Amino acid sequence: MKLTILGGGGFRVPLVYRALLADHEPGRVTRVTLHDLDPVRLAAIGRVLAEQAEGIPDAPVVDTTTDLDDAIRDADFVFSAIRVHGLEGRVIDERVALAEGVLGQETVGAGGIAYGLRTLPVALHIAERIAELAPQAWVINFTNPAGMVTEAMSRHLGDRVIGICDSPSGLGKRVARALGADPKAVRLDYAGLNHLGWLRKVEVDGVDRLPGLLADDAALLSLEEGKLFGADWIRTLGAVPNEYLHYYYFGREGVAATKGAAQTRGSFLLDQQSRFYATVAGCDTGALAAWQSTLLERETTYMAENRDAAGAGERDESDLESGGYEQIALALMRAIALDQRATLILNIRNRGTLAGLDENAVVEVPCTVGAEGPRATAVDPLPDHAAALVASVKAVERAVIEAANTGSRQAALRAFAVHPLVDSVAVARRLLDEYQNQLPQLGYLS
Ligand code: G6P
Ligand code: MN
Repeated sequence: MKLTILGGGGFRVPLVYRALLADHEPGRVTRVTLHDLDPVRLAAIGRVLAEQAEGIPDAPVVDTTTDLDDAIRDADFVFSAIRVHGLEGRVIDERVALAEGVLGQETVGAGGIAYGLRTLPVALHIAERIAELAPQAWVINFTNPAGMVTEAMSRHLGDRVIGICDSPSGLGKRVARALGADPKAVRLDYAGLNHLGWLRKVEVDGVDRLPGLLADDAALLSLEEGKLFGADWIRTLGAVPNEYLHYYYFGREGVAATKGAAQTRGSFLLDQQSRFYATVAGCDTGALAAWQSTLLERETTYMAENRDAAGAGERDESDLESGGYEQIALALMRAIALDQRATLILNIRNRGTLAGLDENAVVEVPCTVGAEGPRATAVDPLPDHAAALVASVKAVERAVIEAANTGSRQAALRAFAVHPLVDSVAVARRLLDEYQNQLPQLGYLS
């Protein structure tokens, strides 16, 4: 079985390969093709993977290419994990927004819109090439903003593109731990959009244990989400929000903390990653060790500004074992390839799962997966405040998709202006102007 990874020079690729190496079952991935535009990054990650595979006889064979069509041909699965304009672009997304006093973040608010505007044309091109060259392939999209990108790609790939994120399952794991339950044995009622969802029920042996958790201050405050949002706000909602909702519920504090930080997340990672790739390019050995220590530092500092704003302190050690998105990707692939039933929270087309959104809107909901792909399971309707926020953010995503499909600058302006975290049309205009000044990839908008 062949797996192609687009963005194959990316820092998280060794996580995926580590998960593949641990799989010795029949029907496993036997060949991995890494595609990247940057041969230096590709070579560096290739070296990490080679060290990971040492002494493992059935390790999947790895090859690398900078040619997209070659990478896609014959693929059974394509993982798309690209970052258009790299971390340099992420820094621009953050800084332009913060200079206007609004949130500058990878996927949320103005930063997420700028990232979407530059990513969608590339994602659409990839989707077209896959539809032509490997129509049998399943596409697993990690590329952010994942919900918007998955929805745009689904126009060419239909249900063959599935978006994944580690944050809902990370939340599920933390909640299970707080309840003393086995994370594999809990049934989660989680729904919304990517990075915009709520956990409303946690069933263990058919009994919803969330009300008990909400009533227990100590258990709640042992959760990352408890520390971020406070026990009282979680009880008021009657649901545990995805950590990214911190940017909405504590928007002002989030902007202040991000502005006050010595570096944005993007510029921290840009420095860190530049050092990592330079180190690996300059040494004959030690690529894997360099990767591991860089990963630990990255995980330790994840969402540090939000935690500072909330006075939440250090991240729980049990959370440093990386988000686990590679486990979701592997479970999804095996469920499809081997028809092994799995329940996973995924980004797929709505088809009536959430009322108020049309059937092609990509939503993030629990799904059962088998050879025919994912099917959404029934979830409770969203309460009004959540449905309203989801509808607003979906309207923003749709405006970005329209801009990417038509080149309409007006649609791009609408995306910025109607976003709940952008409070003025004048600000939206200046944001779009400045992003266009600084990002050549937005030159297609007129
Ligand atoms: C989580 C999210 C991803 C996001 C990442 C950012 O894993 O689910 O969608 O890209 O965090 O982490 P970073 O270390 O890049 O700030
Ligand atoms: Mn995510």
